[in-house]
Amino acid sequence: MFQATVENQGDSRMEGQLPGYAYGAASLARSPVTMEELERLKQAAGLTGEDMEALRRAGRVLAARADAVVDSWRRAIAAVPHLVAAYASAEGVVDDLYRARVRERFKRWIEDMCLRPWDQAWLDYQHEIGARHTHLAKNKADAAAAVPHIPLRYLIAFTAVINERVRPFLAESGAAADEIQAMHDAWCKATLLSVTLWTRPYVADTAW
Ligand code: HEM
Repeated sequence: MFQATVENQGDSRMEGQLPGYAYGAASLARSPVTMEELERLKQAAGLTGEDMEALRRAGRVLAARADAVVDSWRRAIAAVPHLVAAYASAEGVVDDLYRARVRERFKRWIEDMCLRPWDQAWLDYQHEIGARHTHLAKNKADAAAAVPHIPLRYLIAFTAVINERVRPFLAESGAAADEIQAMHDAWCKATLLSVTLWTRPYVADTAW
């Protein structure tokens, strides 16, 4: 299930399993967020054991449609110039290889959030994903020539789009209405919790 899905497209930056994807890598920093704090966050988000099971069911639906799901998020980004700017240089030149590589990791994230255990490795990669949206690590995984930072406000606000656009895919599964609702509720809570973890590298130690 976690095999690489990217084809080598003939560019040296595309070589390897899934370029830039570092889940579980020994080189990854340990998250400053503890497993105990992750549990407290789950409580704060009202994310129950039943939600975690519904999240797994949602993950199975969405992983099978990952290309279409990511396309639908990508269309939302493409329609907003100050969002698509994240993939471009300060002069506005979009790095298409960067976009292509991030797209594959975006697909993988659906599976990682919904189907992986939320253990130390998962927690550590959430911190890395957060850092990759900031001046701390943006562009580094892909040696990209794009702006160095994504404003925290857009990261948070885009959660609304991520959540809204997932629902039709859950509905297309043909599940009963209450099951679609349960999967969507779980997805929304899990996404918000993930984005909350991603805010950690943005925020001062004393403020998070
Ligand atoms: C809830 C909102 C968001 C989600 C769920 C999300 C998800 C992701 C994921 C899964 C990755 C790949 C992580 C990896 O490298 O393994 C990523 C990277 C990236 N995202 Fe987001 N993102 C969100 C908001 C945004 C926004 C608002 C922008 C700006 C338009 C953005 C632009 C990017 C860029 C440019 C990268 C590549 C970062 C790098 O250089 O490694 N993201 N995002």
